[in-house]
Amino acid sequence: MAFPPSFIDELVARNPIEDVVGQYVTLKRSGSNMFGLCPFHGEKTASFSVAPDKGIYYCFGCHKGGGAINFMMELEGLSYPDAVRALAKRAGMEVPEDEQYQSRYRQQERLWALMKEAGRFFHAALYSPEGKECLEYTQKRGLSKSIITRFGIGFAPNSWNSLVTAMKAKGYTDQELIAADLVGEKNGRIYDRFRNRLMFPIIDVRGNVVGFGGRVLDDSKPKYLNSNETVIFNKRKNLFGLNLAKKTKLGYLILVEGNIDVVTMHQYGFDNAVASLGTSLTEEQATLISRYAEQVILLYDGDSAGQKATRRAIPMLEKAGIHVKVLQIPDGMDPDDYLQKFGADRFKMLLDGSTNRVEYQLSAIRGNYDLNIDDQRVKFMQEAADLISSLGSAAQREVYGNRVAEAAKVSFETMKLEIAKAYKRRQNKQRKQQEAIDLAPVKALQPKSRTIRYDNVKSAMAEEGILAQILREPAMLDQAGSLKAEDFSVELLGRVYAQLLDRYKQGLEVSLSVLADMTAEEMNHLSAISQRQTGPVSEASFRDCVRTVQTQHESKSVTSDEDLLAFRNKLKERKGTQQ
Ligand code: UTP
Ligand code: MN
Repeated sequence: MAFPPSFIDELVARNPIEDVVGQYVTLKRSGSNMFGLCPFHGEKTASFSVAPDKGIYYCFGCHKGGGAINFMMELEGLSYPDAVRALAKRAGMEVPEDEQYQSRYRQQERLWALMKEAGRFFHAALYSPEGKECLEYTQKRGLSKSIITRFGIGFAPNSWNSLVTAMKAKGYTDQELIAADLVGEKNGRIYDRFRNRLMFPIIDVRGNVVGFGGRVLDDSKPKYLNSNETVIFNKRKNLFGLNLAKKTKLGYLILVEGNIDVVTMHQYGFDNAVASLGTSLTEEQATLISRYAEQVILLYDGDSAGQKATRRAIPMLEKAGIHVKVLQIPDGMDPDDYLQKFGADRFKMLLDGSTNRVEYQLSAIRGNYDLNIDDQRVKFMQEAADLISSLGSAAQREVYGNRVAEAAKVSFETMKLEIAKAYKRRQNKQRKQQEAIDLAPVKALQPKSRTIRYDNVKSAMAEEGILAQILREPAMLDQAGSLKAEDFSVELLGRVYAQLLDRYKQGLEVSLSVLADMTAEEMNHLSAISQRQTGPVSEASFRDCVRTVQTQHESKSVTSDEDLLAFRNKLKERKGTQQ
């Protein structure tokens, strides 16, 4: 089944590779790439890379790679069309095909639209005469008008049918209102589920309203009424406020308990606060968080329930690769109380005092050793030195180095030597990893695939260079001059070049993830090329590659692996002088 190219473009755009892969693999950012444990082969160190800017994944270990569609095919064992359908569903897109599929996708789209309308309705009701009391309540809670707008907060009128009537007037059916869990049903009649409540829309990271939490305006019970799960709402996979907090510049997230805490914190400038949806933190939420932040401060209520929740959340977040700090507000206050009473500056001081992860980790390391035994003291020093040597600031290294020296009863000089040694070990390890990556192409070129052969390695390297640069900067195609697919020595690379050129001319997306008619093996190979080539893109080096391909095509010379290495080194030198 062939899908229209523009549909595939949109599909790929609406399924960022890091989100698709992130459903299965915990990814951690490192520069412009993200890394995680490869889902296709067992491994303990992360050699599986995802390049969000290129829309591809590639495993330096098992050499599998491709775009979002390939990932779904490979991981779920789906055919191409089924992988496309799965991604379309994920992004809530209609697949241009038969009636049955269309109706399913249409239902999702309708529910999103309905939830958005309902959100608008509640928001408008807050400023209507019947919302007066609720508006006063928000003022009493110190919520500003602009924060109410930013979160889309609203009011569900004290009536059995005001939402039903409004949504029906917009053309939504009873079934749709039921499917969205906006109504209850009795004796065949539907009625508003949310009545006389302050309404918090729950918005997913793509910006869709997927549910609501409704708080009473007094002390009656239940305090909150929340949307149940629906076709578009999975509680385990959403966090209140993440749609906004994911854009924070603060560099970490703060996990709190209540919706009101989140809103107040954003109002006071802590736009990195999120809350789990009235349940304890789930693994899916931890994974979701790890995509947006490397560090989280846990700021749960000081009561015993809050402490229990903290104890549960720490290992869950750490398992997702997140650094955790813990903060407890004195006197059993929650963040909302504290901010309203003491303001942002004092709150900031409180945050700064949260237990720092180095201290946390050092004390964890220390707990593993008996410092009265010499042999264990040495091990303690080494392990602590490992940790300290990874700290970026010299001041930090000195402070913590001193502390460990004291604890281990050695001089700071001795500890410094230990830290320097640990630093060297780390550097060596990193250099080896880098070398493995740098040398991988030469080793990997011929043997990895049985169907792809490089007969003219010199030309092939230039062809790889051409594709890699185009994939990073499609405008490079303007520099391609008379280069044709037939000039390429590697049929596959020529074919891809032709497809990309064609797409470029038509103004379509130029990336690996949208290519049609590629085998898994071919995609693996192309992803390897794209991930491996990380030098700067420049018109000069691009034209060099083009020239090489064309002259090689004319002379049809065959070169050896040694020539190839020499050629690559030359390329590297040249790149070096351009920087
Ligand atoms: P809180 O009781 O702390 O609520 O519950 P809150 O939002 O901070 O409101 P205030 O400050 O007391 O007025 C924390 C979260 O637990 C969920 C809600 O998501 C709430 O935000 N919750 C609480 C429920 O789902 N149901 C409830 O009955 C109570
Ligand atoms: Mn609260």
